Amino acid sequence: MSSHDSILRVGMVGYAFMGAAHSQAWRTVNRVFDLPARVRMALVCGRDEPKVAEAADRLGWDGYTTDWRRLVESDEIDVVDICTPGDSHGEIALAALAAGKHVLCEKPLANTVAEAREMTAAAARARASGVRAMCGFNYRRVPAVALMRQLVADGRLGEIRHVRAVYLQDWIVDPQFPLVWRLQKDRAGSGALGDIGAHIIDLTQYVTGQLVTGVSALTETFVRQRPLPAGSSGLAAQADGNGRGTGEVTVDDAAVFVARLDGGALATYEATRFATGRKNALRVEINGSRGSVVFDLERLNELEFLDATRPAAEQGFSRILVTEPEHPYLDAWWPPGHIIGYEHSFTHQMRDFVEAVATATDPTPSFADALQVQLVLDAVERSAEAAAFTEVAKEGAPVNASGRGGGPA
Ligand SMILES: NC(=O)c1ccc[n+]([C@@H]2O[C@H](COP(=O)([O-])OP(=O)(O)OC[C@H]3O[C@@H](n4cnc5c(N)ncnc54)[C@H](O)[C@@H]3O)[C@@H](O)[C@H]2O)c1
Repeated sequence: MSSHDSILRVGMVGYAFMGAAHSQAWRTVNRVFDLPARVRMALVCGRDEPKVAEAADRLGWDGYTTDWRRLVESDEIDVVDICTPGDSHGEIALAALAAGKHVLCEKPLANTVAEAREMTAAAARARASGVRAMCGFNYRRVPAVALMRQLVADGRLGEIRHVRAVYLQDWIVDPQFPLVWRLQKDRAGSGALGDIGAHIIDLTQYVTGQLVTGVSALTETFVRQRPLPAGSSGLAAQADGNGRGTGEVTVDDAAVFVARLDGGALATYEATRFATGRKNALRVEINGSRGSVVFDLERLNELEFLDATRPAAEQGFSRILVTEPEHPYLDAWWPPGHIIGYEHSFTHQMRDFVEAVATATDPTPSFADALQVQLVLDAVERSAEAAAFTEVAKEGAPVNASGRGGGPA
C-alpha cells in the first residue's frame, strides 16, 4: 500500500508534557516511515480555551476544543490519544471505545486495577468491531531496548537468571517543591511506583518475555507535606507564593521491590524521585546463562552485551552502537552512527500504532498487557502495606563514628 491510502484523524486530550511529545511524534511519523495510512492532527483538547488555542497553533493541530466529550464523540475523529493524568484515563478511554474510536492511552493505564480491568474489557468488546487500543509504554520503542528483546528471544542470553532494573529521578528532593498532581493519590494512583516503576515493570516483562509472579516491597514517602502549587501542576510547577498553605502527599516517593518472574528469574526494581543528581536514569541489566546485556537510557543509542559463549580470554562487555539499518526502527532514520534521542521513541510508538490500525492487527502493549503491569503495581502496594519486613535485632556491637565496631572491651 502507498502511504496515501487512508487518513487517520487524531484527537488528543491534554497538551502539556506528553501532549507535546505525542504531537511531535504525530507530526513526524509519516515524514519518516512509509505507512499504510496518513495521520491528520485534527483536534486537541484542554480545559482552558486561550491556552488550548495557543497549544493547537504551536503543536500543529487543525482545531481545538475545551470538552473531551466533544472530541470523543466527533465524527471527524478516528483515534483518541489520551495524554491526561491517570484519573481521567478510564473515563475518556471508555467513552472513546464506546464511540468506536481507536485509543492510544498513556501509562499507567489507570489509577486502580478495577479501572484497568474495566478498560481492558471494553477494549476486548470494541475489538470485535475492529477498534484497536494500545497503552503508551514508549521505552519499548527505543531501538536498543527492542534489540535487547531480540537478543533474549534469539537465546543469546540463555536462561535468564537476574533482572536488575532502576528508574531514578530527583525532581522532588526539595521539600519546597509543590504538591503537584503526581503527588496526589486520587489524581495519579501512586507516586514513583506508577509513574516510573510502571515503565521498568513493562520494559523488563517485554524484554524477557516473562511476567512478574510475585513481589516483596518497601515504599516510602520522605516528605509528607508540601506547599500548594501555583498555576500549572506539571513537572515544572512552582510553589504558590501567596501562602495558601500546604497539603498532604498521598503517594510514595520511592518504591523498591524484589520479584520472581515466571521463567524462573529473580528481579530487583527501584523507582524513586529522591535519587539526588539522577534526572531520568533508567537502567536495566539482564544476566543469563549464556550472556548479559545492559541498557542505560542516558546512552540510549548503545547496548552493552557480553557473550559468555566466547573463549574466556576474549570475553568482555562490548558496546553495540545501535544505529545500523538492521537495528529495529533505524532503517528509516539517518546513516549509521547518526544518533537519535528520547522523542524518537514516541515516533516509533505512533508508527507501530498507525500500522496496526491501518492493517487491522492488534497493537502492543495492549490494554491487557497494561492491566498486567497494573496488577504488579497493586501487588507492590499491598506488599508494602503488609510490611512483611524482617526486623534485625540490635544485639551486635554498635558501630562508632569512625565506622569500626566499638563495643565495651
Ligand atoms: N510515556 C512516558 O514516558 C510518560 C512521561 C510522562 C508522563 N506520562 C503519562 O502521561 C500522562 C500525562 O502526563 P504529563 O506529564 O503529560 O502531565 P502534564 O501535567 O504535563 O499534562 C497533563 C495535561 O492533561 C490536561 N488535563 C488534565 N485533566 C484534563 C481533563 N479532564 N480534560 C482535558 N485535559 C485535561 C492538562 O491540562 C494538561 O494539558 C500521565 O498518564 C503520565 O503518567 C508518560
